[in-house]
Amino acid sequence: MPLASWSEIFMKKIGILTGGADCPGLNSVIRAVVRKAMQDGYVVTGVKNGWMGLIDNDMRVLDLRSTSGILDRGGTILGTSRTNPFKDPEMVKKIKENYKRSGIDALIAVGGEETLKVALNLFKEGIIKVIGVPKSIDNALSGTDYAFGFDTAVNIATECIDRLHTTAESHHRIMVVEVMGLYTGWIALEAGIAGGADIILIPEIPVKMKDVCDSIKSRHKRGKTFSIIVASEGVTIDGYLESRKKGYVDDFGVGRRFGTIGEYVAKTIEEDTGYETRVSVLGHIQRGGSPTAYDRIIATRFGVKAVEMVTENKFGKMVSLHDNKLQYVDIEEAVKKRKTVDMELYEMAKVFFV
Ligand code: F6P
Repeated sequence: MPLASWSEIFMKKIGILTGGADCPGLNSVIRAVVRKAMQDGYVVTGVKNGWMGLIDNDMRVLDLRSTSGILDRGGTILGTSRTNPFKDPEMVKKIKENYKRSGIDALIAVGGEETLKVALNLFKEGIIKVIGVPKSIDNALSGTDYAFGFDTAVNIATECIDRLHTTAESHHRIMVVEVMGLYTGWIALEAGIAGGADIILIPEIPVKMKDVCDSIKSRHKRGKTFSIIVASEGVTIDGYLESRKKGYVDDFGVGRRFGTIGEYVAKTIEEDTGYETRVSVLGHIQRGGSPTAYDRIIATRFGVKAVEMVTENKFGKMVSLHDNKLQYVDIEEAVKKRKTVDMELYEMAKVFFV
């Protein structure tokens, strides 16, 4: 009988990291990965602060105790960063060295587009074996019907719209609610529909303020003395976006802080219509705190599936959800282009824009 190899003598090791923006449900995935992996005979190493942890060799063992009580906790116990190691060949070299030294056999990378692009490149270069897990409050990842975090963001935004509705109605005001979504309008569209918005502005459809003001005026003519406008932060209005995009660019060359469009929308409406108009920018509130039950369940399913995919050697793939069934797709497929809003849904929402 041949002698057992070192990797057979020692238990196999799964690494897990969370990269990019934090998001409700990250801890639910971490917990699920640890539970399933330990039951299947793996040990788990948590990599701190996204790809930065592999550059800095900052890792720690994760076990049942360290991942207990985190299912419902927002943020990520591992920390995160928007590090792009491909900006500097020295960083990639460090990742290669530290990954090898750590003894990690397979890495589960939980993140959005940018984190998964790095995962894919490191996989293609033969540096890591990776499985991706889709995370995005913007729901902007292709290859999956759904990324965890989105449901929570939509629910938070909807609750805020509901609350603003009562003041809008009582004071006969126009309320502009600016929600997250720099490049896609999923949160605005779904929270807008759920919250009964009268106008929804999304990055996929550039608009003119004149049209927005005209539709508010016609609502008033019909006796509606208040209006709710939900605007994605990334909407192009009167061509006013390109200059905003240059505001802050991250490690990946992606514009991240466009400045608030809500102020512009509110100011223009008030000047044009004479109706009192206020703006609320929801910002990071949409990304913080406990995940909804739906996000906890999806994140848990994704985590368990990711470990199964390690066992099945499905490297270079991302867990995905289609018609509520767990599947997987090539990471390449998921990061090729952003998933923009479903135009059929947008057309349906327009029924209520009157
Ligand atoms: O990618 C998710 C997202 O939350 C965007 O919707 C948002 O505008 C962006 O990240 C900003 O993130 P941060 O302010 O943390 O850089």
